Amino acid sequence: MRIGIVGAGLRGSMFTNALQQVPGIEVVGAAEPSEQVAAGWRTSFSLPTYSSAEDLYDKEGLDAAVIATPDFAHEQPAVAAAQRGIHLLVEKPLATSLSAAHAIAEAARASGSMVVAAFENRWNPAFLEAKAAVADGQVGDVISQSAFLSSTTRVPTQMLSWAAKTSPTWFFMSHTIDLAMMFANKPVVSVYAKGFKRVLVEMGVDTLDSVQALLAFEDGTTAILDSTWALPDNWPSPFPFRFEVRGTNGSVYIDQTNQSVQISGPAGYVWPRTYFPTADGRFHGFPAWMAHAFADNILGNSEPEVSLDHALAVTEVQVAIERSLAEGREIALPLTH
Ligand SMILES: NC(=O)c1ccc[n+]([C@@H]2O[C@H](COP(=O)([O-])OP(=O)(O)OC[C@H]3O[C@@H](n4cnc5c(N)ncnc54)[C@H](O)[C@@H]3O)[C@@H](O)[C@H]2O)c1
Repeated sequence: MRIGIVGAGLRGSMFTNALQQVPGIEVVGAAEPSEQVAAGWRTSFSLPTYSSAEDLYDKEGLDAAVIATPDFAHEQPAVAAAQRGIHLLVEKPLATSLSAAHAIAEAARASGSMVVAAFENRWNPAFLEAKAAVADGQVGDVISQSAFLSSTTRVPTQMLSWAAKTSPTWFFMSHTIDLAMMFANKPVVSVYAKGFKRVLVEMGVDTLDSVQALLAFEDGTTAILDSTWALPDNWPSPFPFRFEVRGTNGSVYIDQTNQSVQISGPAGYVWPRTYFPTADGRFHGFPAWMAHAFADNILGNSEPEVSLDHALAVTEVQVAIERSLAEGREIALPLTH
């Protein structure tokens, strides 16, 4: 199976490394418009790069592609791949509008391409345990959920050059919406959200500091999702992540803010990220396991963990959150446009 990487940045490089670990998979090249980023990727992997996704697809004869472009730039390369019958692993969010998400889905359905959205927590051991506990009836019927997935200002001001063109809804809530819908196992029927802007604007990045969204499911149960990327940089954890599922008989509480290691020294006091380690030059941990699962899907050994319909439903909730932020009112789902 010949795979191309579209977007050779942080995640594109992680996926290249992870997919190169799989027998039967050959990463053959990348599409990357920034010559500086492309040169770094070529040096790391000794493979060719192209300035456009179409060139990569047409010159390398791909079976599959990974879309790891910025949040707002998934549609065009994903549709162009799907039109060519190329299978896709699309970074979250699937797309940042309903029309873009449906354009990807329609092109894929017409050609028979598989589209898998990269909801990596489906391979996170803590959420696998929680999912099994809920499925096993240990918490009873789910009543309410709450999630806090956030970061320090380092992510929007230093890690991402394009943070002003996205928001916590797209960047973080892809994960928490996916998980809340997985635990509730019911459609979302309404969304109400509020957001706040100040800290990041003052730091020169024009995006929301925080978003809080209340999701109501078909059975009247609720989930509160809370994401900010304006935490101070002296916060010890780069990605605080807490998730709680409460039910009629019990509850599940996950806290991945402290990933087992605490270091104090001249650089300050930090709780480093240990769940995605690199060993022997290879990426490990749940984002790599997600890439391996996609490889298995396209090799015909397994079915995708997440359906395209589910990814479309998550996108619809994200669009509803952004609409609620803009219009200051509760938004009913399904959306009509
Ligand atoms: N844990 C997670 O789930 C997680 C973490 C980080 C990023 N992401 C997602 O992965 C995606 C990429 O993020 P990143 O951190 O790698 O960003 P990045 O900025 O490091 O890399 C994106 C690359 O895409 C390139 N690009 C832009 N438009 C392009 C196009 N049309 N064709 C090809 N390349 C193009 C850019 O030049 C850039 O090098 C985003 O959607 C982001 O939300 C997910």
